[in-house]
Amino acid sequence: MTKKSKFTIKDKEFELPLLDGSIGPSVIDVTKLYSDSSFFTYDPGFTSTASCKSSITYIDGDKGECYYRGYPMDIMAEKSNFLEVVYLLWQGQLPNKKQWDEFSNVIKNHTMVHEQMQTFFNGFRRASHPMAITVACVAALSAFYPDSTNVNDLDQRVISARRMIAKVPTLAAMAYKYSIGQPFIYPDNELNYTENFLKMCFAVPAEKYRVNKIFAKALDKIFILHADHEQNASTSTVRLAASSGVNPFASISTGFTSLWGPLHGGANEAALNMLKEIGDVKNINKYIDKAKDKNDPFRLMGFGHRVYKNYDPRAKVMQKTCHEVLEVLGRTDDKLLEVAKELEKIALNDKYFVEKKLYPNIDFYSGITLSAMGFPSSMFTVLFAIARTAGWLAHWKEMCLDPKNKIGRPRQLYIGEKPREFQPLNKR
Ligand code: CMC
Repeated sequence: MTKKSKFTIKDKEFELPLLDGSIGPSVIDVTKLYSDSSFFTYDPGFTSTASCKSSITYIDGDKGECYYRGYPMDIMAEKSNFLEVVYLLWQGQLPNKKQWDEFSNVIKNHTMVHEQMQTFFNGFRRASHPMAITVACVAALSAFYPDSTNVNDLDQRVISARRMIAKVPTLAAMAYKYSIGQPFIYPDNELNYTENFLKMCFAVPAEKYRVNKIFAKALDKIFILHADHEQNASTSTVRLAASSGVNPFASISTGFTSLWGPLHGGANEAALNMLKEIGDVKNINKYIDKAKDKNDPFRLMGFGHRVYKNYDPRAKVMQKTCHEVLEVLGRTDDKLLEVAKELEKIALNDKYFVEKKLYPNIDFYSGITLSAMGFPSSMFTVLFAIARTAGWLAHWKEMCLDPKNKIGRPRQLYIGEKPREFQPLNKR
């Protein structure tokens, strides 16, 4: 029997279905609220609204836990690899040996991009931000691969998803190479997914490139940590764009644009810039005061989260990975790490941050780690996007398979002018 929630609006009683998930809070199904009562709900920023049903990722924000298809994300980061996580998110299950061989081979065999994409790159200014180039190139994939743009064709959906998983790292590396004026490096199918990406970013034709296995493992872990995070801004953007039936490349490119903002995936770049600006532990208190000042727009980047009201589990793994990378480089006395650790300590004991439950998030330590590996800060959000492409695609697939899927069309509380008479220019 369907559970009901009862409530009263203007002395009239209404009943709406109450839906239970497998874990987490139940939801009131308000889809019939308007037709039954002529009222809408109002929830800017979706603070109390579940926008869809999903079985991909579960976050327990109070406990600081995150699960991919039921597996703890931190265990996946420790024991799995990124491509296996991509498979898990997409298929719902971990692959057996045969499925793994088939999947990893297919991805390897699609890492090259259409040769003509190189001329497409040439249209950009060299100084362009790599994220600007990557956003445009992902959207442009629909022009290069029109044979996998029909969202109603199951095979084309699979092909387009595999193409994006395989080609996004190639495009991202090309964007980086282009921005620093170096030649593009073709993919190397002898290497695994992450090793290949490192090579495409850091190899030069004049020298033999040897992958640093510890960096490759660390970056793979970082990709796993960023692979999905349920209905965040970029994933919801992808779902809303895709709900119109637009082709998959166009849908996924909207995830890139939304992710770029400093409150979302752009926070890793902003967090590193902030640590550099603070520069020394002696300046920390000044910045803590700025973050607490209501008249100052400054926020501690890499701190706070809409869902986590506890330590972000991704930040814990990231902090450990950061130490591992700096240790390999013999940089355990890294000045920025020292500032970050002290800033974290002070903020975690400060009444303002304690009361508002503001903890370090994934972006707090990722910048230091990626920068130590040789990536410029302009590449941080691009790296996040490579990983999150896996999550966007899984959500896109889930949405395409949902028979109840409708075009997304929020309503509004109109607060503008009431209908009024037009006055010609000479009478205004
Ligand atoms: N520094 C100082 N104060 C903060 C911060 C911060 N980083 N984050 C939130 N607050 C305060 C905020 O001023 C507000 O105070 P009050 O209640 O007095 O008005 C309160 O905490 C709640 O903040 P909010 O902006 O209403 O919370 P939100 O859930 O809308 O925003 C957030 C979440 C992540 C956008 C926000 O915490 C933030 O701007 N953090 C810095 C940017 C950042 O690190 N983003 C990465 C998020 S994790 C990776 C990802 O998902 O992309």
